Amino acid sequence: MDTYTFKKSYEMLDEAKKYIPNGIYGPRSPMFLTFGSYPCFLERGKGSHIWDVDGNEYIDYMCSFGTNILGIGHEGVESAAKQQMERGNCFTLPSNRWNELAKRLVELTSGVDWTVFGKNGSDATSYAIAVARHHTKKRVILTANGAYHGAHFWNSHNPAGIPPEYQAFVEHFDFNDLDGIKAKFEEFSGDIAAVMLTPYHHPAMADQVMPNKGYFDGVRELCDKNGSLFIMDDIRCNFRLHINGSHVFFGVKPDIVTMGKAMANGHPISAALGTDELREAAEGVYFSGTHYFSAVPMAAALATMDIIEEEGVIEEVAKLGAMLKKGLKTAAEKSGISVNLTGHDAIPFMTFADDPVFDKNRLFCGEAAKRGIFFHPHHNWFLSSAHTDADIEKSIGVAGEAFEIVKKAN
Ligand SMILES: Cc1ncc(COP(=O)(O)O)c(C=O)c1O
Repeated sequence: MDTYTFKKSYEMLDEAKKYIPNGIYGPRSPMFLTFGSYPCFLERGKGSHIWDVDGNEYIDYMCSFGTNILGIGHEGVESAAKQQMERGNCFTLPSNRWNELAKRLVELTSGVDWTVFGKNGSDATSYAIAVARHHTKKRVILTANGAYHGAHFWNSHNPAGIPPEYQAFVEHFDFNDLDGIKAKFEEFSGDIAAVMLTPYHHPAMADQVMPNKGYFDGVRELCDKNGSLFIMDDIRCNFRLHINGSHVFFGVKPDIVTMGKAMANGHPISAALGTDELREAAEGVYFSGTHYFSAVPMAAALATMDIIEEEGVIEEVAKLGAMLKKGLKTAAEKSGISVNLTGHDAIPFMTFADDPVFDKNRLFCGEAAKRGIFFHPHHNWFLSSAHTDADIEKSIGVAGEAFEIVKKAN
């Protein structure tokens, strides 16, 4: 099979560098993807497929880092968005979608009584820690080593331009290590405002880790004993694990839940949700952004939730992910390669044995990309309900070729 080339992408990258620092920044930077194997710019997308600026087509297993749970350009979502757009998007006051979405999301999500809306996940996680600090009158936020909760100063993994004082009251522990978190509760006794956890641990460049049995219960107990809050950061998993919140999937009751990414199938919106006990603190914290009130993403979110609930999307996406995982494992074995597939089926990730700096993973994913399958070598993948059995079969076939190339190179 002829493999793809990326002439126009690279010309555009050179041009971007003239006008934009680094050309492309953040996790979409080409520095994270094998140069020569991936495009830099996409021109269009439909369903589970994307096309780059050189006209190459891909089956997309990143779904825009999770947003496109129903696939790009889903008709039901886009027609709701379009109808709202005809009435207007940004108004001087909130639109009539405001209450509608708040009621729907609060009623859908287990164990919460109120919600606020932002744009990015980082808006929601920053608001959540402010509510926790205001409610408890404590300062310290505990998060797991290697967890990502957004790009805001309190939590950024890159210290450039951020005085360390911004992270002075943020402490870390190892996921699944109850003794480690207990030690933090002792060290900062009486000053822990909240523990923020994701439904399971999804670090970059590593196997994904499910919570041990009893882990969340242990954390919940520690929070209750110490007057601290449990924040579930569901931004990466929401609507892929359980329609009522990923905390239901794992049987834990958080005080605050944050959502984003898949909430509106690609339209920009995020949310923080909390219990009645925290309402006063929630009312006291300042939260605003010019675009937080825009109506189109709210209309899209309402449609997205209806479709996910009515069409059994969660089960379908997990089924497709399970098929992909199984096929990749079998194809790797056929080439005598040992791989590990981890994470929930809807959000899987693959690592190679004896691959400490991810050379094998980068080679594999790059060779797959050059043949039209977009996997990411460092970051977990995402499935959507727009993926088809044929997509999965084709992907497994291409993966077989890529595994052979990895075998020959090692
Ligand atoms: C678990 C989690 N929390 C927060 C965020 C931040 O969301 P955003 O990039 O929309 O600000 C992300 C983004 O990847 C995430 O995965």
